[in-house]
Amino acid sequence: MVFLNGEFIPKNQASVSVMDRGFLFGDGVYEVIPVYSGQVFRLHEHLARLQNSLDAIQIQNPYSIDKYQHIFNELLSHSLDNNHSVYLQITRGTDTTRKHKFDELAPTVFIELNPLTPKTKPELEKGYCAITQPDFRWQRCDIKATSLLANIMYAQQAKQHRAEEVILHRDHIITEGATSNVFIIKNDTLFTHPTGQYILSGITRDLVIESAHHCGLNIQESISNIDEIFSADEVWISSSTREVMPITTIDSKLINNGKIGQHWSQVYDHYQSLKYAG
Ligand code: PDD
Repeated sequence: MVFLNGEFIPKNQASVSVMDRGFLFGDGVYEVIPVYSGQVFRLHEHLARLQNSLDAIQIQNPYSIDKYQHIFNELLSHSLDNNHSVYLQITRGTDTTRKHKFDELAPTVFIELNPLTPKTKPELEKGYCAITQPDFRWQRCDIKATSLLANIMYAQQAKQHRAEEVILHRDHIITEGATSNVFIIKNDTLFTHPTGQYILSGITRDLVIESAHHCGLNIQESISNIDEIFSADEVWISSSTREVMPITTIDSKLINNGKIGQHWSQVYDHYQSLKYAG
């Protein structure tokens, strides 16, 4: 069962026009929202970011917060899984001809649930590999846009290198991962790129900062040079579907001799407690 433009229908019956601007231009925005034990996690934060993305590209938000909650609940009532991620996409809508300039259209809204199986702590404690690449994306990475050509090119590179993530750097400054935010821990201080046009303001990023603060780390939302990553005590990535994940190898070099850091372990535990507190 999926939601498409006001209807709950089987996924194999859901279709949109070839003139949909999402199909023609990637002219749309999206959200990915975790659901733990049937509870949508950080709903208001995700819907606020959705509103920012819609405002940035001048699409009217078709629904209220209550309406979204109602749709999510309806979809959840048809699922047997315990944990999910909600995929919510809004495109500008279906046009009559392909043209770059737009008039106001009825947005296309597609929402589905996917099963979510976060990795367990023992799995995560094995550590993950990343590679680094120059960040050649545009300069509005704060918009959660469906046009993700650069991100999928990086994701495929990660796959080909058997890496979990590609850590991006713009003019030698670490920005974020291709599908995550990046954190460096050095001398009990957590460093992460400030929010703004060069990164997506991750909802999990905020939760990791909150957890790190709770665990006594100093927080520096400031820029770091890509070279600094190799001498970090710990490196983590975060996203709604991967939570907070330790990176122990970057470009085939071990970080902190490949050891999982004590800060990661504490922050992971605190993050789990936030999840179950709702
Ligand atoms: N991506 N930065 C980028 C480029 C991302 O694509 C994502 C998440 C994040 C983390 O954001 P959040 O913590 O709110 O999930 C940062 C999602 C999961 C995706 O595209 O599927």
